[in-house]
Amino acid sequence: MPSVVIIGAQWGDEGKGKIIDYLAGEADVVVRAQGGNNAGHTVIVEDKKYAFHLMPSGVLYNDKKNVIGNGVVFDPEGFLKEIDILEAQGVDTSNVMIDERVHVIFPYHKKIDALEEDARGEDKIGTTKKGIGPCYMDKIERSGIRLGELLDREHFKSRLFSQVARKNKLIEKYYESQGFDPQEIFDTYCGYADRLKKYITDTTVIVHEALVEEKKVLFEGAQGTLLDIDLGTYPYVTSSHPTSGGFCIGAGVGPNMIGEVIGAVKAYTTRVGSGPFPTELHDETGNLIRTKGNEFGTTTGRPRRCGWFDGVMVKYTSRINGLTAISLMLLDVLSGFDKIKMCVGYQYKGEIIHHFPADLNKLAECKPVYKELDGWQEDITSIERYEDLPENAKKYIKAIEEYTQVPVKIISVGPKRSQTIIREAIF
Ligand code: GDP
Ligand code: IMO
Ligand code: MG
Repeated sequence: MPSVVIIGAQWGDEGKGKIIDYLAGEADVVVRAQGGNNAGHTVIVEDKKYAFHLMPSGVLYNDKKNVIGNGVVFDPEGFLKEIDILEAQGVDTSNVMIDERVHVIFPYHKKIDALEEDARGEDKIGTTKKGIGPCYMDKIERSGIRLGELLDREHFKSRLFSQVARKNKLIEKYYESQGFDPQEIFDTYCGYADRLKKYITDTTVIVHEALVEEKKVLFEGAQGTLLDIDLGTYPYVTSSHPTSGGFCIGAGVGPNMIGEVIGAVKAYTTRVGSGPFPTELHDETGNLIRTKGNEFGTTTGRPRRCGWFDGVMVKYTSRINGLTAISLMLLDVLSGFDKIKMCVGYQYKGEIIHHFPADLNKLAECKPVYKELDGWQEDITSIERYEDLPENAKKYIKAIEEYTQVPVKIISVGPKRSQTIIREAIF
């Protein structure tokens, strides 16, 4: 089956954008299906750097369709800014399609996101404040406004005015802050709708036709499995399904249409935002990984929390996504360490466990059990073939495969498109 899912198998920022861009060279269609512009996918081609938030990472090729599927929450302001930046960089964005069902993010969603984070104080989630949670709340509550609705002005006006009246009550009475003028939002969003009209369609038809015609479809995950609203480290999660199953609902495709499921996995672990992180390093090693890996958020610029590779976690994310392969990212960042540790179990109340706990209090008490491997000193950023990697790097990859029971089919040794080692053809 020529369709491939790429999901983040940790807490996001695993390098999904880089690997999607690489594989998109072979694909016909690239599809986003969840999340919104909380995502930040960095792609570097030769010496040009691109940051995608809502835009699928196949947009750098002129001949690919780029789909924003129905499961995405859509910020028109953010999207149009992204279009403007890309066009200024000389990227043709005419091959982008947005599903008419995507739920629209309005200014009140962003404001409520920020107000709620402040209200939570110490317990804050550390959201990107892009309005993601509040927009998905409206969708689930069945009061959200979908993009297609913006094209019928009268209908949109009545939906928006009633929604703003409700939100203003919440913002003014509960949060004691300042509400919004519905007419102002209406005028601004009508302007957005005029620009967006040409992109809006029923993308489920496009994706289905491509699959039926055996075209190569690449499904691009945003966020990471442990940020999944159901299966992640709840409540320190996002509000969508960044797992492989999320594509069925978020792009309107049957599970039998999905072939390979590749987990993008960093050679270590990072996390932004709050919540327990068993292998987190609070020492010089953690700082060194952050500096070498340039671990600062693409969307918010926040420093990422860093730690060793966590096998227990990846075993779990492999199981719940049905991973058929791992794309091991940022391996070059580990060059130069004398010893490299990987977590191969958790110690919990005197017992060794191999299942990632659902209960956060339990997770917070888990102490990683490490396997220590010898590192390698060589710079690996220009290596093109697996055979040419240092022996200790190969041993590290093998240890990951043995513990997770998933083959590492792709190895990334640098941020550029060209710094990619393919061990087994994907399409
Ligand atoms: P995404 O959200 O999963 O697409 O990942 P991000 O783009 O937020 O973060 C990954 C970061 O690592 C970006 O700055 C990439 O340019 C960079 N990157 C991706 N692959 C590699 C790699 O193999 N080596 C290095 N050094 N950097 C990489
Ligand atoms: P990409 O696609 C890393 C995190 C936020 C916060 C939590 C909830 O670049 O991997 P939200 O704004 O979604 O309500 O925030 O989820 N988060 C991410 N962390 N990478 C991302 O996306 C993320 N998107 C959201 O930091 O902890
Ligand atoms: Mg990112």
